[in-house]
Amino acid sequence: MKGLRVILFPVPLQGHINPLIQLADILYYWGFLISIVQTDFNSINPSTYPHSDFHSIPLSLSETDSVTGDVIAFVLKLNSCCTIPFRECFSSILSDPSKSRVACLITDAVLYFTQAVADEFNIRRLALRTSSICSFLAFAALPLLREKCYIPLQESQLEEPIPELAPCKIKDIHMIKTGNPDDIFRFITSMVRGTKASSGVIWNTFEDLERTKLAEFSQEFQVPVFPIVPFHKYCPAFSSSLLEPDESSLSWLDKQATNSVICVSFGSLAVINEKEFREIGWGLVNSKQPFLWVVHPGLVPGAQRLDPLLEGFLQMAGERGRVVKWAPQQAVLAHRATGGFWTHGGWNSTLESICEGLAMICQPVFGDQRVNTRYVSDVWRVGIHLENRIERGEIERAIRRLMAGEEGEEMRGRIWSLKEKGEACLRPGGVSYKSLERLASYISEVLSN
Ligand code: UDX
Repeated sequence: MKGLRVILFPVPLQGHINPLIQLADILYYWGFLISIVQTDFNSINPSTYPHSDFHSIPLSLSETDSVTGDVIAFVLKLNSCCTIPFRECFSSILSDPSKSRVACLITDAVLYFTQAVADEFNIRRLALRTSSICSFLAFAALPLLREKCYIPLQESQLEEPIPELAPCKIKDIHMIKTGNPDDIFRFITSMVRGTKASSGVIWNTFEDLERTKLAEFSQEFQVPVFPIVPFHKYCPAFSSSLLEPDESSLSWLDKQATNSVICVSFGSLAVINEKEFREIGWGLVNSKQPFLWVVHPGLVPGAQRLDPLLEGFLQMAGERGRVVKWAPQQAVLAHRATGGFWTHGGWNSTLESICEGLAMICQPVFGDQRVNTRYVSDVWRVGIHLENRIERGEIERAIRRLMAGEEGEEMRGRIWSLKEKGEACLRPGGVSYKSLERLASYISEVLSN
């Protein structure tokens, strides 16, 4: 692989940037030269990765384009607006005599348009899927679910199971809110087609977690698969953070008792309303458990109005409560004082929690988070699913069940065993390690020829 170059292109959203940058790091340490193409929207600072060669392409977003408002509209726009600038950039890297030979292109599976660009230049493309296999298969099944009349969703049927996607219920395939519901099908069909046409899929998961789903995917998609995770165990995610992590989270945790703190974060995209924000605040205060709560700008649209309320919660909690705009999440979850994680079920957060052996409370908001959460609660049985509306009494009870109850203890036992399996995967001879070796030789011996 000496002197071979890999070009990578992430979706410019935090939960997609982190795993792609981690993958770039992994490939660099395996001897590949790295070029990263990124949009000028949500770009990471190239100086954080001096060993990579960065290229920026324009992404013109209008005032009304809001990522959190309509993720589907955003990803469709990304696929249409980036085609020409990406093609030009890709072509210039390929024709640059100072650059070494390009072995392959690796792009997020969401960026399906890149398959045609790679084909045009006769370069092979690997797709990186940053979420779980179980959620990908649930997305891929949406057209079938529509044929079988599960969609459009009927309020009266939300609790019913979907035998084709067991253990998911109809409410778990809850659609992502978008201006035009047909856009979801347009996006899913294109992503599935782009994934099938790729030369392989790299998964941010490990076999012990999703063995049957991996087999199902391989059978249906017939492309090589590389589950090489947990990616983040190779490098810290916060170095690709778009927001500055508040390091005082760690000094505050240093003052707390071992396993006493519940950490709360809903990732980078999920939004909640003012009422839900109040219920969470009251639930945390009433639980009497120490808490570290990430309230990033944008979590509650119009959040400035909530500052006095937040101050009120913190006054009531006293030394027991801490709120930050963004945390060094991996370090926070690994801290000895952290005893539980209340998450939105984003896949990176879920994996980071599993890798620290931290049982969860999951409050899915949209998209893959619902399916991830169903697996956390019903399959791996390592978290409590908050299925109903956000309500202070229910939150208080869930925190007690997780942090102090027998049920929490049992979940900790199970997640600890998953953590150990994840660690074993990474060691030389482990399944993720072998998959990584297979990926490195596939890129250098098959794709580059
Ligand atoms: C979204 C989806 O929810 C996720 O499932 C999908 O795979 C990618 O897009 P997001 O909602 O941001 O991502 O959540 P998540 O996947 O959990 O990613 C958030 C990342 O930001 C994690 O790596 C987490 O460690 C990091 N983070 C979050 C911080 O570093 N600090 C914080 O305060 C909060």
